[in-house]
Amino acid sequence: MAKSSTTYTSGSSPQKILFAASEALPLIKTGGLADVAGSLPPALCNLDLDVRLVLPAYPQAIERAIPLKTVATMRISGVPEPVRILEENIEDRLHVYLIDAPSMFSRPGNPYTEASGRPWGDNAQRFALFCRAVVHIALNQAGLGWHPDVVHCNDWQTGLVPALLAQEWDRPATIFTIHNLSYQGMFDLSTFVQLQLPDKLWSSEGLEFHNQLSFIKGGLVFADWVTTVSPTYAEEIRTAEFGYGLEGLLDHRSERLTGVLNGIDYHVWDPATDLDITQTYTADSFHLKQTNKLALQKEMGLEQDKDAILFGNIGRMVEQKGIDMVIDILPEMMQNQKVQIVILGSGDEQLEQALLEAAEPYPGRAVVTIGYDEALAHRIEAGCDCFIMPSRYEPCGLNQLYSLRYGTVPIVNRTGGLADTVADLNPATMLDETATGFVFNSPDAASLLEAIQRAIEYYQRPGLWWEKLATRGMEQDFSWDASAAHYLDIYRMAVDSPAKNPVAAA
Ligand code: ADP
Ligand code: GLC
Repeated sequence: MAKSSTTYTSGSSPQKILFAASEALPLIKTGGLADVAGSLPPALCNLDLDVRLVLPAYPQAIERAIPLKTVATMRISGVPEPVRILEENIEDRLHVYLIDAPSMFSRPGNPYTEASGRPWGDNAQRFALFCRAVVHIALNQAGLGWHPDVVHCNDWQTGLVPALLAQEWDRPATIFTIHNLSYQGMFDLSTFVQLQLPDKLWSSEGLEFHNQLSFIKGGLVFADWVTTVSPTYAEEIRTAEFGYGLEGLLDHRSERLTGVLNGIDYHVWDPATDLDITQTYTADSFHLKQTNKLALQKEMGLEQDKDAILFGNIGRMVEQKGIDMVIDILPEMMQNQKVQIVILGSGDEQLEQALLEAAEPYPGRAVVTIGYDEALAHRIEAGCDCFIMPSRYEPCGLNQLYSLRYGTVPIVNRTGGLADTVADLNPATMLDETATGFVFNSPDAASLLEAIQRAIEYYQRPGLWWEKLATRGMEQDFSWDASAAHYLDIYRMAVDSPAKNPVAAA
């Protein structure tokens, strides 16, 4: 790749940030990454940074980003067609670029998988192309006349960016954020060869991992700074239990590995202004939340009972989220006639089926909706009393943060971002008035059930105990301001002291 001409001045504050992700709200979303990539860049703009977000041009993104204009056309090795950069043509501080390569991205449905749920067979080619396009922009070789100081990459789909940029003698600083270490972008050796990646990257100090090509290693090995989305997860991934064999590498990089807690977008998730819910409310008008509960019970075909305790869960139905534990304990939970539960999600077909079957014996008290429905997710947050998150691991987790904001008391396993954001109700936290939810210590059905029973007991106490607990959660501040400032500090450190890469430019 040609060398670029701009020199980066050490000690200067980075101003121009290229933020690369494979999904971002409001254009395309499959999970929490989209929430973050949709709300962190605007928060960085609030710090007076020039931030440009770059995404693949999936059909949904093109549709939602209209009007679009073509701002550059590039040739990328291995791609027969010219690759266009489209820019969302709106008056906004945040520039959004879409990488338009129709043979790779113009296909219906999910960005990563076919309708059957199987990953697209050419994902390595698709995201390698995306990475190369990002590298072109990063080196000011895309014809945009803009040269970022920092490239902030997210998850494996962008992992090749730090690896390719490390081959350049004059390059922007690179940050790689791990949103979920279990998704690594692994492909075989022939894919590495076919992608025409530099030979020297095929080594255990480079992209090779157990004789496979690992996209995520590109970020973990080569980025100037690695971050993940909560302080506890930053510790956990350095252990064999959570590290997927990458714990040694992450431990080796621990001086440049930082956990920065995600924020949430209070423009989208605020019960005081939420247009998707039946009745808006605040901590001061907490009693109004009940209207949402009655409306949700009606909408979902549950018995309308203001005194029942209504549990909720929303999420991807995969092993990570521990929803199988809810299946295990449902019969016991449902023995209490004052318990109701509503679950919304999709994912693993077997889990979906098992959940539907588990709820069947309890019509009017347990309901499972298979699908993806953002407006319903808001109504569940507003209508439930408690939100269950029994995740086996959780890099950050957003739903417990939304739940806190909506006065929907979270019940969580003590892991990752859940441990960092929910304070367990116990004698000490009752005394110093810091409790915000119920936390259990091990991801198993018995521990979850015990926490749920504690919540039921507390809910049924006469007096204002529950309201105090729920409204304390509503008053927590998980806005992006502090986290965005923390990222800016990391950008500065990365610009000031680039990492020495093991397989870098000669
Ligand atoms: P993850 O990214 O691991 O899926 P997070 O808690 O960080 O978990 O974020 C998940 C996001 O996706 C939340 O905004 C959640 O509300 C949303 N979500 C997940 N499943 C659904 C669904 N079936 N319908 C609506 N929103 C969903
Ligand atoms: C991932 C994680 C989740 C996190 C989200 C956004 O999908 O599973 O815990 O909140 O990314 O960072």
